Amino acid sequence: MFIIFFMDKEKEIKTQDFVADFYENIRHSRSYARKFHDYWFSEMVKRVVPRGLALDAGCGTGEMMEFLKNRGYKNFVGYDISFNMLSHAKKRAESLVCADAENLPFADTSFDIIYGRSILHHLQDVPKALREASRVLKPGGDVVFVETNKTFINDLPRRLMKHGDHFSEDHKNFKDSDLLSMMKKEFEIKNVNYFGYIGYTLLGFPDMLDIYRFIPLKKIFTPLLINIDKVLSRTPIVKRLSFCIIIEAKKR
Ligand SMILES: C[S@@+](CC[C@H](N)C(=O)[O-])C[C@H]1O[C@@H](n2cnc3c(N)ncnc32)[C@H](O)[C@@H]1O
Repeated sequence: MFIIFFMDKEKEIKTQDFVADFYENIRHSRSYARKFHDYWFSEMVKRVVPRGLALDAGCGTGEMMEFLKNRGYKNFVGYDISFNMLSHAKKRAESLVCADAENLPFADTSFDIIYGRSILHHLQDVPKALREASRVLKPGGDVVFVETNKTFINDLPRRLMKHGDHFSEDHKNFKDSDLLSMMKKEFEIKNVNYFGYIGYTLLGFPDMLDIYRFIPLKKIFTPLLINIDKVLSRTPIVKRLSFCIIIEAKKR
């Protein structure tokens, strides 16, 4: 593993180093949260099935790479700016790099696919990170990003959350159109899907909100909530009220 130090990102690194243990010990260890995250990863991977060499951008504790590995796909590299995130990810993946999304230490056209779950809204300079993602991707390569989708429903909760110690001041809540117009400068957008409703809030983040722990009959309610989210993501108009969007794009 390479270690590089990033002097201008101390606050984000400090926050993510702190949050990493919550991801490891709570978010990804509660069985209902794991089920939700597996559904979430499958929604990303089904958009672009892995091939060649894949990059997990802002890989955190490596759950996405474990998901890929469990499905027989082993050719991936993960990078993250938080050393504590990577020290957990080490249990799940071998090829890890401590790197800044805005200055990637990879050669041009190294990767066939980039998956990035919830990294862009943590960055200081998103256009620069998108240029870097495009640079390291092969022509015709695919990206799948999951990002925030600012709506009147999630704007206030996200603003309130930002005051806690799980977020740094760099944390943003993108409006879908703003993010897409940044992405269009580097990529051809293939598809935008809406993701994350009731199941997302109740199941996905027990490290921040764990009222679901008190709900009985989880064997029934967990798949039910995931299915409700699936239905909502396909329901015209209502689907736009999601917490996230899944963006599929291609390097021209
Ligand atoms: C919300 S977490 C998502 C982690 C992981 N992708 C997941 O879905 O569990 C955002 C991740 O982006 C990383 N990150 C934030 N700023 C970064 C930067 N400039 N370069 C690389 N990674 C960064 C954080 O350390 C953190 O692991």
